[in-house]
Formats: sequence, C-alpha cells, structure tokens
Amino acid sequence: MTIVGVPTEVKKDEYRVGLRPVGAEILTKDGHDVYIQAGAGMGCGYDDAMYEAVGATILPTAEDIWAVADMIVKVKEPQPQEVALIKNGQTVFTYFHFAADKDLTLGCLERGCISVAYETLTDDHGTLPLLTPMSEIAGKLSIQEGAKYLERPQGGRGILLGGVPGVDVGRVLVLGGGVVGTCAARVAAGMGADVVIMDINIDRMRHLDEWMPSNCRTIFSDPEAIREHLAWADLVIGAVLIPGAKAPSLVSETDLDYMNPGSVIVDVAIDQGGCVETAKVTTHSDPIYTVKDVVHYCVGNMPGAVARTSTQALTNATMPWVRKLASSSADKLASVDHHFANAINTNRGTLTNLPVAEAHDLPFEPLTV
Ligand SMILES: NC(=O)c1ccc[n+]([C@@H]2O[C@H](COP(=O)([O-])OP(=O)(O)OC[C@H]3O[C@@H](n4cnc5c(N)ncnc54)[C@H](O)[C@@H]3O)[C@@H](O)[C@H]2O)c1
Repeated sequence: MTIVGVPTEVKKDEYRVGLRPVGAEILTKDGHDVYIQAGAGMGCGYDDAMYEAVGATILPTAEDIWAVADMIVKVKEPQPQEVALIKNGQTVFTYFHFAADKDLTLGCLERGCISVAYETLTDDHGTLPLLTPMSEIAGKLSIQEGAKYLERPQGGRGILLGGVPGVDVGRVLVLGGGVVGTCAARVAAGMGADVVIMDINIDRMRHLDEWMPSNCRTIFSDPEAIREHLAWADLVIGAVLIPGAKAPSLVSETDLDYMNPGSVIVDVAIDQGGCVETAKVTTHSDPIYTVKDVVHYCVGNMPGAVARTSTQALTNATMPWVRKLASSSADKLASVDHHFANAINTNRGTLTNLPVAEAHDLPFEPLTV
C-alpha cells in the first residue's frame, strides 16, 4: 500500500491537477490511500466532494499533503516553497525541466527525493509520451490564440482565417512540422486557411504531404524561404525543436520588416528559448506585446489555459505510470523498464540524468537499481 498525495498547483496561472477523481478511484480500489489538498481540482472542474466520493481524503494544506505522502503526483515543477516540503526518499512524479533550473536541481538533490520526470520518460517509438499530449494541445491552441489576436480590436490585421465567399482566406506559416506544428496546421487548415508547413526533415514533410489536407503544403525551411513566407503570412507559428537544445533562431528582428503590420507570431517554442529573435516569455494574464507592428504571443505554459482538457489529456497518459509506481517502487520499475528508468532524474541525492548534469556542470551518477 502506498500513500499518494496530490497538492494544489502553486505556479502562476496553473489550473491543472495531477490526478482526476477517476484516478483517485482507481488507486483506492488498488488498495492505496489517496490524499488530495482541498481545492486542488477546482481550477479544472473537479471539486473536493468528487474525490471524497471515490474514497480519497481531503487535507487542508500543502504541508499536510507533502508530510503524509510516500509519493507525490502533480503537474508543474516544484516551486521553492514546495521543494522545502519534500521528504527524504519521497517519490515525486511531475514535470521538472531540471535543465532549465539549477536551483530546483540542487534543491531536489539536497532533499533526497526520487524525482521522476514526466518529460524524460521514453517509449519504443522514440517519443516522449508524457510530453506529447501537451504539444498537441499547444499546437491546436496556437491557432485559436493566433486567430483571436488577428482581430483588429486585439491589435491584429483584422483577418478572418477562413475568409468568406468572395474574400481571400488567411495565410498561416508553421515553422516546424512535428507534434505542435502538425496540430496547428490541421486546425488552421480545418478553419479554411491557406497553410504552409516548413521543416528540414524531408521524410517528415513527405509524410505530411501525404496526410494533410490539400490547403496545407510543405516547403523546405531555409532563410530565403522563411523571409519569402514571412511577407506572405498573416499568422506565424513557431514550432521547431532540436531535442535537448535551445530552439534555433529562425526569424531575426530585421526579418520582421518583411511582415505586414498587424500580423501575429505565436512562438510556441518559447519554452526552449523561442525561434523568433524578438520572442520573450509571457503569461496568460499578459500574453502579448508588439514589436515593429507585429503582435507576439509567447506564453510558456499554453496548455494551462485549457486546464480541463489538459488535465484529462495529461492524466490519460500519466495514470498507467502512477498506478505502476504506486503498486511497485521507482527502483523496481526502473530495474525492469529502461523507459521508466529514463524518467528518474535525481535519486536520493544523486543526479542520474546526464544532460541535466552537463547543463549545470554537476556530477552525474548513472542510476543503479
Ligand atoms: N509554450 C508551450 O506551452 C509549449 C507546449 C508544448 C510544447 N512546446 C514546445 O513546442 C516546441 C515544438 O515541440 P514538438 O513537440 O512539436 O517537437 P517535435 O520534435 O515534434 O517537432 C519539432 C520539429 O521541428 C523541426 N525543425 C528542427 N529544426 C528546424 C528548422 N531549422 N526549420 C524548420 N523545422 C525545424 C524538426 O524537424 C521537427 O519536425 C518545443 O520547443 C516544445 O517544448 C511549448
């Protein structure tokens, strides 16, 4: 039996929760004790009574949850006030993004927890199954947000992406045809826009050409093609990724001169530094700013805006692992499943993820289980 604790997220503008009531129901039926912080699910429509009805216990404070639990399940990386509550040997299953935060890395090492990171759990297809759902959401949302900021009262050109009979449709340039880019392009094409996806992976573009609708085409990404299409586009989506590295800068400040006033850039890749030189991270409460008459939307945690959909998508992917982890232990799971072992970033005071160790120039110790 494991004691599972779910705290309320404390990061700004974060409304998701790490476990839905149905997850609590499954865990209690498996024989575990589930403790939920009061109000933890309220931001995405799950009230305390829904958790209590399936056998979970509600506790008033974060301190209570972190103190009672063997295993914490949450969403965002622990914030400083949460790091202070971590117990030695406690398993913490959440997004960490350690490479971007040395203080968090040192904090988790000092607290001696087992940090099981959603973002580094792998699968046989070479993807990151606990990250993909959030990329899908950010991709789809990027068009919804881009369409909104193209509206004149929001500062945009006053363009309706789908057009109307007798009036041309909007034009969308998607930089990067991976998970985010494909989802963005599909929504934009579905709205009737004229869509261009740029990538450098020809096999990927071959696949997209075969599967995407006819109002969506692919173009090889190089500086000349990008400049040409910046002048063409009403809406540009930044969706490139070089795994483990800072996003490549594809649009310089000077390149903005090619764009029409009131055009919109949604740089989804902002969480990796952004692929537009003028991009800087923004929040849901203050999502846009304008440079050279081009509206920039650069929210670092886009899925948080659609907290209910995001919670459902995230927990659909994490729940099988929460269940396995609660019924076994991180050590045992890691010894039989190398994909799970890849998720363990810190283990009782040792740093077991090489890229994180390299990013912060800290000693790396391979996981021994
Ligand atoms: N802001 C948010 O809330 C949020 C949410 C989810 C994901 N993201 C970010 O979105 C970005 C994309 O994620 P993904 O899951 O789609 O990655 P992905 O790996 O599925 O796709 C990235 C694509 O970029 C392409 N690419 C690389 N260099 C390129 C270049 N120079 N020109 C054109 N294409 C290039 C790759 O070939 C690949 O197809 C990542 O930085 C990810 O972290 C942000």
